[in-house]
Amino acid sequence: EKGGYASFMHKEIAEQPRAVADTLLGRIGADGALILDELRIPAAELREVDKVVVVACGTAFHAGLIAKYAIEHWTRLPCEVELASEFRYRDPILDARSLVIAISQSGETMDTLMALRHAREQGSRVLAICNTNGSTIPRESDAVLYTHAGPEVAVASTKAFLTQLVACYLVALYLGQARGTKWGDEVLGVVRDLADIAGAVERVLGDMEPVRELARSLAGAGTVLFLGRHVGYPVALEGALKLKELAYMHAEGFAAGELKHGPIALVEEGLPVVVVVPSPRGRCVLHDKIVSNIQEIRARGARTIVIAEEGDDAVLPYADHVVRVPVTPTLLQPLVTTVPLQVFACELAVARGNEVDQPRNLAKSVTVE
Ligand code: M6R
Repeated sequence: EKGGYASFMHKEIAEQPRAVADTLLGRIGADGALILDELRIPAAELREVDKVVVVACGTAFHAGLIAKYAIEHWTRLPCEVELASEFRYRDPILDARSLVIAISQSGETMDTLMALRHAREQGSRVLAICNTNGSTIPRESDAVLYTHAGPEVAVASTKAFLTQLVACYLVALYLGQARGTKWGDEVLGVVRDLADIAGAVERVLGDMEPVRELARSLAGAGTVLFLGRHVGYPVALEGALKLKELAYMHAEGFAAGELKHGPIALVEEGLPVVVVVPSPRGRCVLHDKIVSNIQEIRARGARTIVIAEEGDDAVLPYADHVVRVPVTPTLLQPLVTTVPLQVFACELAVARGNEVDQPRNLAKSVTVE
């Protein structure tokens, strides 16, 4: 039931604060330590892991790309992320010490299933991050961490993505906890920040009317580019994927640092470019670099749509439109910066008269290779 919303996608976007909170529920102890006994992988085995490999498709793959930053930072384990459809065809190097994480909303995606079967044949442990109880991928995995997004009906994935991110952060922190790396004030702090994130998502959702208005004004555009850096880069990819799926528009996501290596040639008068700006705190080098990118593309006529943290005024001189997101620790930022991009794509689909829940040519779960 759509519960009064215009579409399931509208409803599922709105449900994200609850989905995030539900995915954290019962998994953080009163002392801030993580309780993930449900994984049933003994800590001793987690200490033996020497590499993490994430396999997934589409939006779940983007969650994996973001997970890499968190896993490598918090566990100091190397992490590869690969499209499930490519994985087994390149003879990947795997053994009993590799931990393979398969991310899937439906738990029925054939490419992801075949990738995990291949990993198990090589003797690797497979951990599924999945939203659908009892589906094939968790059944065939050694362990599962369920996301508690509730049923996702719209073909375009929204709330499942946010909860996949939460699950990935939990796994990364848990691995760090089990391995004793970086487990201290920093990680406890992150757990506290995670507990606040549902409220931050709620705040973003409360201020989306300007994004909808902007989307409506772009209904006639042919192409939209998305730029990001660090964890903002997969967010840019996800923003572009949503727009393709829903608005049937040409959209591409780029790492902002790649601009000069090619994509800047696409920039022309009036081209809408969405830029996901990292926090000016912490990694401020990246922030400054992306502000120069915004300046460069604006000088070439781009219409700049900037997603930036509250209080980040450095972007103002070069932004045609600013979308504000709450101050959030860098690694967790995708949980808030993705939301305006979902709303943007959804509204553009409506403005272009497209079927929001059932985009043409797509199926909710892709059960063939
Ligand atoms: O069910 P899964 O998470 O395995 O599905 C993976 C992709 O097919 C899925 O994320 C797809 O890209 C969505 N339509 C994106 O909105």
